Amino acid sequence: MIQARRILSIQPGQPASDGAGVRLNRVIGGPGLERFDPFLMLDEFSSSDPDDYIAGFPPHPHRGFETITYMLEGRMRHEDHLGNVGLLGTGGVQWMTAARGIVHSEMPEQESGAMRGFQLWLNLPARDKLGDPGYRDIPAEEIPRLTTAGGVEVVVIAGQFDDGQLRQAGAVQRPHTQPQLFDLRLPPGSRIAPRLADGQRVMLYVYEGLLELPEASAQPVSAGRLVRLSDAGELHLASARGARVLLIAGTPLHEPIVQYGPFVMNSREEIEQALRDFRDGVLA
Ligand code: FE2
Repeated sequence: MIQARRILSIQPGQPASDGAGVRLNRVIGGPGLERFDPFLMLDEFSSSDPDDYIAGFPPHPHRGFETITYMLEGRMRHEDHLGNVGLLGTGGVQWMTAARGIVHSEMPEQESGAMRGFQLWLNLPARDKLGDPGYRDIPAEEIPRLTTAGGVEVVVIAGQFDDGQLRQAGAVQRPHTQPQLFDLRLPPGSRIAPRLADGQRVMLYVYEGLLELPEASAQPVSAGRLVRLSDAGELHLASARGARVLLIAGTPLHEPIVQYGPFVMNSREEIEQALRDFRDGVLA
């Protein structure tokens, strides 16, 4: 009999402010990042009060990793030093590979209404940290979605969805860490059992409703909580009352992580180099 993945932890996010004063919920980030390897940060932003988001993220650098922005609601404008301009709208994804350096801004393209979504940081392996930067805007209509036999709607942002009946490649595939990023909408009474390779680190972020993991826990997980699961076994998800969940999985890099703000490298020396490069205007 195949074991279910065990729950390692269930934790809430922390209120935080970033950019020029954007209020958000930091779900992953801070000390002990190796527990989430290959992911470095997950921020949730959700507000209908423009004071919480209007200041946006004026120009700032990144080096050493990738940022994935997924908009549930609202519009955000991206501009970077490579000359890319992108308008990120409801349901859209921006996949930015900072690698050796990108300087960009992320500003709201609205003065009122709801702004809701996520930014996830995915680490790059040491050999790609100083590679060429890249950038992709993926509008909602180009992101595969499906409804399982069990009635769960799945937005397949990255990786490969497979529940033994339906298989669907996501909009983005990445080597090395093989990230899986699915947005799951579980109507009341539905269930789903996505297959994930052993060795993949799996996390579930419940952002609406109540999620049950029948094989792993008797306690439903409420919105605003991140569940970390063990690296092998089956995964069975259900919701009696309905839930919306981000499923985030990836193969850990097992490399040293040294972070200083928007720079994530493998050593202090590399961070100092990034700071010098930024100061000298040669980061990107
Ligand atoms: Fe950024």
